[in-house]
Amino acid sequence: MATELDPNAVKMFGFKVWTYKMGEQVSLMVHLGDQLDIYKTMAGRGPMTSDEVADATNLHERFVREWLFGQAAAGLIDHVDGAFELTDVQAAVLADEDDSLSFAAGAFRGGVEPQVIDRILESFQTGIGLTYEEQGPNAAAGLARMTGPWSRLALTDRVLPALDGVVAKLEAGAKVCDIGCGGGVMLSTLAAAFPNSQCVGVDPSAAAIDIARRRGQEQGLSNIEFIQSGGEDIAAGSEYDLVITFDCMHDMAFPDRTAAAIRSAIADDGTWLLKDIRSTGDFDKDMRNPLLAMFYGFSVASCLQSAMSEPGGRGLGTLGLHADAARELTTDAGFTRFEVHDLDDAANLYYEVRI
Ligand SMILES: C[S@@+](CC[C@H](N)C(=O)[O-])C[C@H]1O[C@@H](n2cnc3c(N)ncnc32)[C@H](O)[C@@H]1O
Repeated sequence: MATELDPNAVKMFGFKVWTYKMGEQVSLMVHLGDQLDIYKTMAGRGPMTSDEVADATNLHERFVREWLFGQAAAGLIDHVDGAFELTDVQAAVLADEDDSLSFAAGAFRGGVEPQVIDRILESFQTGIGLTYEEQGPNAAAGLARMTGPWSRLALTDRVLPALDGVVAKLEAGAKVCDIGCGGGVMLSTLAAAFPNSQCVGVDPSAAAIDIARRRGQEQGLSNIEFIQSGGEDIAAGSEYDLVITFDCMHDMAFPDRTAAAIRSAIADDGTWLLKDIRSTGDFDKDMRNPLLAMFYGFSVASCLQSAMSEPGGRGLGTLGLHADAARELTTDAGFTRFEVHDLDDAANLYYEVRI
């Protein structure tokens, strides 16, 4: 005989599931607010009526009003005395892309293209995932906006100064290679800050390299070059003073091949700066991260896809390169020094790796 289900337990669990559906809808609304510049327009203006928001954004009031009520219902903007306000705290997360380390609205993309979802479904049958290039035209641009604020704002004043002697070398003129450079935000920031250094970025995604090249040109940088290539193919004997891999080793089908290539391309006193997702290798411990399910979502839809995009791929995925795994990977490649830096980056740890 089937067991009687506790109706309250079913109701509560149903509510939990619907909160994720609400998340899907609110995510789309955040994307709209970002794309329509509504957050940016409301920032710093105090309370506004829907008419005032519509006028200021040049949008249709009826749609704006519905969106505003939805945002207030989600707790993303305030609704007081019939007016709507984006507070300074809310603006730091939703509007201020230039100066706020907490800017998050750029991470919202409005969903995944249906043909990409079909391919993800297929990957569960075939065991072969999609490369970043195959994840659709929005993937590289979206990632650049998601990781951009941290890359631009924390790199030169927080991350690089934590490394032994690296800033002095960059100032004097160093050879730098950014592997898995994506849209090139980080390398452009570095090239602009250290004009004496020569910077090369590599990534197998043509779309990412295209964005990175345009960014370098727009910034008028002459000490930067982007090459479409995998990290495993960087030239041995390049004598790089600094090699950077940001959030990409766990995306590689064969991270060990890239680690070996880095070993053969780095100068004897060079530094490999490896940034990867904060995780422990123990699911129960990782459960302390309240956003853990989101990271697994990133993995199934994107990182694990890439890490399984070739037969026999290691398949590390978003949470797969925790400190112990990173230490093992770099030791196996012939590096002997490994220092962990916790730089108050909620999502990542930084590893300073040397021969
Ligand atoms: C999550 S993105 C990170 C991009 C950039 N480093 C950042 O922090 O924004 C991962 C990148 O790794 C790249 N990638 C995947 N496999 C690679 C490989 N074998 N060699 C180099 N890059 C690779 C992808 O194309 C993608 O651009």
